[in-house]
Amino acid sequence: MSKTIIVSNRLPVKVNITDGELSMQASEGGLATGLGSIYKEGNNVWIGWPGTEVAEEQQKHVTNQLKDLRLSPVFLTKEDILLFYEGFSNEILWPVFHYMSTYARYEDEYWESYRQVNEKFKTAILQVAEAGDTIWIHDYQLLLLAGLIRRELPNITIGFFQHIPFPSYELFRLIPWRSELLEGMLGADLVGFHTYDDARHFLSAATRILQLQSSSNIVTYNQRSVVVESFPMGIDDTKFNDLVLTNDEVRNNISHLEESFTNIRMILSIDRLDYSKGILQRLQAFDIFLQEHPEYKEKVSLYMIVVPSRDTVTQYKELRDEIDKLVGNINARFRTNTWSPVNYFYRSFPLEMLSALYSFAEICLVTPMRDGMNLVCKEYVASRTHNDGVLILSEMAGASKELIDAIIVNPNNVRQMSAALVEALNMSEDEQVRRMTQMRMLVSKYNITNWVKVFMERLEETKRLQLSLQ
Ligand code: UDP
Ligand code: G6P
Repeated sequence: MSKTIIVSNRLPVKVNITDGELSMQASEGGLATGLGSIYKEGNNVWIGWPGTEVAEEQQKHVTNQLKDLRLSPVFLTKEDILLFYEGFSNEILWPVFHYMSTYARYEDEYWESYRQVNEKFKTAILQVAEAGDTIWIHDYQLLLLAGLIRRELPNITIGFFQHIPFPSYELFRLIPWRSELLEGMLGADLVGFHTYDDARHFLSAATRILQLQSSSNIVTYNQRSVVVESFPMGIDDTKFNDLVLTNDEVRNNISHLEESFTNIRMILSIDRLDYSKGILQRLQAFDIFLQEHPEYKEKVSLYMIVVPSRDTVTQYKELRDEIDKLVGNINARFRTNTWSPVNYFYRSFPLEMLSALYSFAEICLVTPMRDGMNLVCKEYVASRTHNDGVLILSEMAGASKELIDAIIVNPNNVRQMSAALVEALNMSEDEQVRRMTQMRMLVSKYNITNWVKVFMERLEETKRLQLSLQ
């Protein structure tokens, strides 16, 4: 029986080794949480990095433990983590693709390591791939991989999906290795993005930088037709809906929140630590809101979760310090004996607590400066089992193309965000229900199962088309 091999830099679980003892925990981030629910079907397997450096003598043990979960580890050395992961992936591709190109550091050694680690992933795939299998590669850490596999297995089916934005040609062309990156991606049969604009930017970069021919959304590369399309990713909506309705721990957590926040309305904000998430601007907006609307003193709190992420990269470290400062400043100026305007947590939370918060918070504030999709906002919508609540969403998030019934804001406009908070706090129940019902329908219809199905069907169709043209 043929299988699908899912490949991403990070596996959906993180391995921890303390005093030789091995433990695992779920990975954070949209890719892992999104695909985490579906990869176990058939005899599929997921290849990726277990999220930590594993000593050579422990690698066999880790491999065996992960095997039961259908996960196959690729081990990264300390140097790989420094140069490939923190370096090329997160100090070049991440900032440029999120339109923060001034943060990029174009180091040759980063590139060399990026090439080597993509080769490492290729070797891992070749060990398990058989004729008839489908390889589905995910995200910006592995842009060269499809091209590397294509050279070894010219006829195999390869899909590539990028979970972060693809920037406009003007930004992308800044990268010294732009041609190699495009050629790597074009090793796939189908290249997918969250939004139509990302797909358009990719087509524009491929045709201009590599001088390729394209017709509508098909690029011809090495006599192969590569299809480029958008597939907005969904979530496991039923999971979030049912957690609120039937999970005892979630119900318990909600009761505790009700006790701690009696007469205080909660605005919820959940992100990984990242400058692309607009956390500082959001805090500035909340600051303005408190200054200009003293009537909300002791009546509204911002509950802000920031999940530690990439904090070995300079910009992330700095951002963390700035958030600490700004939260401290806001709380110092506005707090009273019984009320803190900002409840700030720098850590990750278990799903049962996230679910309770989604269900309890009257407002969810999701205001990234750039985001491929953003799943937090969809999880909030899926958790609103009473059809109420207000989502405030940045127009720079891929999800804003779908969730048009949110209050849509420009994350650079802190005054507009502050006004959106007032609007949300005053929105009538009927209006909330009208908007939330629409959004819930959409999140449920275009859920994760649908996303996988549509991508896979399109991939099969693309392959059939290619074979018929040969
Ligand atoms: N998340 C998590 N633990 C936390 C907070 C968040 O696992 O403590 C999850 C959240 O439920 C969501 C994901 O992290 O599924 C974030 O995905 P999103 O697409 O919003 O942003 P990304 O981190 O991928 O940029
Ligand atoms: C985003 C990226 C993923 C990445 C995740 C967490 O969702 O699209 O590829 O895995 O962030 O980031 P990390 O660097 O911890 O893997």
